[in-house]
Amino acid sequence: MGATPLDPAVAALVRGAHWVTVCSGAGMSAESNVPTFRDAETGLWERFDPTELATPEAWSADPALVWAWYQWRARLVRGAEPNAGHRALAQWAQRRTLMVVTQNVDDLHERAGSSVSAHLHGSLFAPRCSNCGTPYDGTDADPDTATETLRVEPPACPRCLSPVRPGVVWFGEPLPQDAWDRAADAAAGCDLLIVVGTSGLVYPAASLPERALAAGIPVIEINPDPTPLSSSVTHFLQTTAGRGLPALLEHVRAADD
Ligand code: OAD
Repeated sequence: MGATPLDPAVAALVRGAHWVTVCSGAGMSAESNVPTFRDAETGLWERFDPTELATPEAWSADPALVWAWYQWRARLVRGAEPNAGHRALAQWAQRRTLMVVTQNVDDLHERAGSSVSAHLHGSLFAPRCSNCGTPYDGTDADPDTATETLRVEPPACPRCLSPVRPGVVWFGEPLPQDAWDRAADAAAGCDLLIVVGTSGLVYPAASLPERALAAGIPVIEINPDPTPLSSSVTHFLQTTAGRGLPALLEHVRAADD
């Protein structure tokens, strides 16, 4: 099957790139039925605003509510499957150097076979003590035990008995420095940066494509809707992750055949 028709300039960029860095956002997981951050939450949680729950203030006010919300999200992700976009990136990485930097806290890139260079906003599956930072792997943090209730008391840290918190970055919290350093290096050293499924509203993650452009690195954006970045990128592919990434991969394969 011939490669999907693409702008020849895009096809040439993709074929010639030896080191590709991909910056993904919540839209990457939309076709896996994981709601994006700014989609309305569904069901039980639809009356809560994620931007209010993903905060240190919400946690200190009601840790059981925040813990239950993240357990619900983790269970939803556990029930989801990687989509064609996740799989295309894992296959691409078998042919070229491809680094994944993600704002997502799900593990769908990993479950598709990618190794993720940086989870800029942490992970649903890395709870840790809110006091001593010890990673928590207790079974009562297992998303499958999450119940459909609005409040679940967080487990206690076995070392210091403080409440275990979700291993995600909340609004106002700094990004993990090591993750940021790896992401900045990946965006600075690549031949091509692909930004997919992000509204480009949250910094510093949103600065990565801008830094690449400033360094003369071509940037391809994949998003069904225009974003503040769309007018600046080298090429804007107005499509979804599940359609756009496999189409790009076809051109990498064609170059190898
Ligand atoms: P958003 O929910 O802000 O944006 C999702 C983007 O994905 C939008 O631009 C959609 O147009 C696009 N989109 C929707 N469906 C898509 C599809 N099938 N394929 C490709 N794109 C699609 O999510 P993020 O930009 O990731 O931070 O949000 C960034 C950060 O804001 C999150 O990591 C979170 C939040 O604050 C923290 O929790 C710290």
